[in-house]
Amino acid sequence: MSNRVYVFDTTLRDGEQVPGCQLNTQEKIMVARELEALGVDIIEAGFPISSPEDFRSVQEISKAVSEPVICGLSRAVEKDIKTAAEALQYAKRKRIHTGLGASDFHIEHKFRSTREEMLERAVRAVKYAKSFVEDVEFFAEDAGRADPVYLAQMIELVIAAGATVVNIPDTTGYCLPHEYGAKIKYLVENVKGIEKATISVHCHNDLGLATANSLYGLINGARQVECTMNGIGERAGNTSLEEVVMILKTHKYLGLETNIKTQQLGPLSKLVSRLMRMPVQPNKAIVGANAFAHSSGIHQDGVLKHRENYEIIDPADVGAGSSSIVLTARSGRAALNYRLENIGFKLDRAELDMAYEQFLILADQYKNINDDHLQQLMAKMQLKAEV
Ligand code: KIV
Ligand code: ZN
Repeated sequence: MSNRVYVFDTTLRDGEQVPGCQLNTQEKIMVARELEALGVDIIEAGFPISSPEDFRSVQEISKAVSEPVICGLSRAVEKDIKTAAEALQYAKRKRIHTGLGASDFHIEHKFRSTREEMLERAVRAVKYAKSFVEDVEFFAEDAGRADPVYLAQMIELVIAAGATVVNIPDTTGYCLPHEYGAKIKYLVENVKGIEKATISVHCHNDLGLATANSLYGLINGARQVECTMNGIGERAGNTSLEEVVMILKTHKYLGLETNIKTQQLGPLSKLVSRLMRMPVQPNKAIVGANAFAHSSGIHQDGVLKHRENYEIIDPADVGAGSSSIVLTARSGRAALNYRLENIGFKLDRAELDMAYEQFLILADQYKNINDDHLQQLMAKMQLKAEV
């Protein structure tokens, strides 16, 4: 089995479903171009039947982007599939993503159908999609809660019908990592013909486990990961692209590689956040404002002695500039000295002790101490910057 993990970005489909995050076609093209530059393998550009604007977006992205595969979502319904095929007509490399529910819960309460009928519909949908494009991805919705034996039966049938990728979504974010990993392993070991298709992981974050679940899926044999920038998506979101990519890069012993140019993660995160009007939480891994900020004295001292004492990722490697030393009432002398040196002040030990006492008073008052505060402090102590 190859070690290459294909990155399937669904920021413009699952991500864009978030209330308030809708983008117009021009904005989607802008994001799609940046996703191409980032090196994603597949862009899920939208759900063409859902609205005329979404149809147009998929069509325009298909013209604007040439390297990644462009994918359009559809239900396992003929008119959806046909519309997706039409929207994708200009794509150099195209994929239809179709599917239906695989859990008894969805079969009974959403489709009001039977296991047998769902198998027939799944096969029919894949064959119909195949009449338009060679590359057909099948999703078994709510696979996370599906009976593994039935899921395996469904996956075997859709591969026999021509599916090139089989997506095993944990739609409700229900699984624990070892359970989800075992589900993928079960498919690898029990589905006849599984070697003809790529297994894809698509995890939601309802319990905060989307990234962990995706990782366990990959470790157990999946080779495509479906994810979004900043982890945006329905409810608590999807697997975050930047997290899964940096986990694989940081833990090289896993032997799994992506094609992502990680230096572009930071700028793209900002672009998506700005266009979608969706702030990134400051403590978000990899792209949060505090991801490389150090504020406690012990950590600051350690990081100033050697960055890797407290950082496992070089911020430059994810386009986040450099580590920052934030001055608060929890900061120590080393941090104060470092920040003063940055603005040109070289203090001896006695001066630093005196400055530190004054600094603590200021820090209790202002919470975050910036360079202007430091300049004022130096002026009060009648110290001059070296030029
Ligand atoms: O979460 C999910 O199951 C989905 C499918 C449409 C792939 O987004
Ligand atoms: Zn989803």
